[in-house]
Amino acid sequence: MLSRVLICGAGGQVGQALTLCIPQGMSVVARQRAELDITNPDAIAATLDEHKFCGLINAAAYTAVDQAESDVAAAKAVNSVAPGLLASACAARGIRMLHLSTDFVFDGRAGRPYRPDDAAHPLGVYGASKLAGERAVLDSGANALVLRTGWVYSRPGRNFVTTLLRLLAERQQLSVVEDQIGTPTWARGLADTCWALLAKPEAVGVFHWSDAGACSWYDFACAIRAQGLRHGLLTSAATLTPIPAAHYPTPAQRPGFSVLDKSTTRAVIGHSGVHWQDNLDAMLSEWASLDKE
Ligand SMILES: NC(=O)c1ccc[n+]([C@@H]2O[C@H](COP(=O)([O-])OP(=O)(O)OC[C@H]3O[C@@H](n4cnc5c(N)ncnc54)[C@H](OP(=O)(O)O)[C@@H]3O)[C@@H](O)[C@H]2O)c1
Repeated sequence: MLSRVLICGAGGQVGQALTLCIPQGMSVVARQRAELDITNPDAIAATLDEHKFCGLINAAAYTAVDQAESDVAAAKAVNSVAPGLLASACAARGIRMLHLSTDFVFDGRAGRPYRPDDAAHPLGVYGASKLAGERAVLDSGANALVLRTGWVYSRPGRNFVTTLLRLLAERQQLSVVEDQIGTPTWARGLADTCWALLAKPEAVGVFHWSDAGACSWYDFACAIRAQGLRHGLLTSAATLTPIPAAHYPTPAQRPGFSVLDKSTTRAVIGHSGVHWQDNLDAMLSEWASLDKE
């Protein structure tokens, strides 16, 4: 039975969500970057030796996908090397580890939802750096699992939902990519899944999780617009125009299709998750009621 868990990257979207749904009987030590830099092996050892830990969740990462293309060394230090340092420290102490990774390890050419054992072929530096981190964790000898996810959003954080709500209020018209398909994931539901998987020591290797369903960025934007207006988070909203990704060039190439097959995770944790539209509704509804307080 797990009792004390260290959360690395506790200031991020998933890190914060993890602290909002700590399972009963579990205590958490939550460390933000300023308190624990995961690229520093001495700091990792000192933190893990402060208490007796049974588990560690690594939610720390270099997540600036476009910036990573020109900041390769920093992306590799945090996403490729540091997860291995954490995992080796966990292996030496008998600590179970859950490491978060990304749908961007895939190239998007599968034509069906990606299974955990499908061959990875990242299109950019961020995806490649995360894939190397996965391998370091799985090769460490720790009791460890890698949980890949995608399109994560939460109220605190810079993400598609918070950015789009701002732009919808500021602009008259917005163009949004319609030929990249994935699944939005509310950090809150992802955090519940992290806790459920961490509690199953037999769950080792690679797992997938996102909310249920699939959509394009344009579909996601339309839902944010409609629900933002309905919840009173927007009084007026820009019109939305679908465009191909080719009309919105970015430094990093993104997969055209990165829907994840979650069947093995569903079997382990015993539920199939919530549809992305329902979780978006829950998040925006909570946001609107907090604004009224
Ligand atoms: N966001 C997404 O859409 C998405 C999609 C797929 C997978 N994921 C994965 O999900 C996980 C959590 O992502 P997220 O959305 O919560 O990202 P996030 O909001 O960017 O949080 C990442 C956190 O890691 C911290 N961090 C960066 N370098 C660090 C270091 N050297 N030591 C300690 N902490 C450090 C960051 O601190 P600073 O802010 O101070 O830099 C930030 O608080 C990551 O593994 C990410 O790759 C995310």
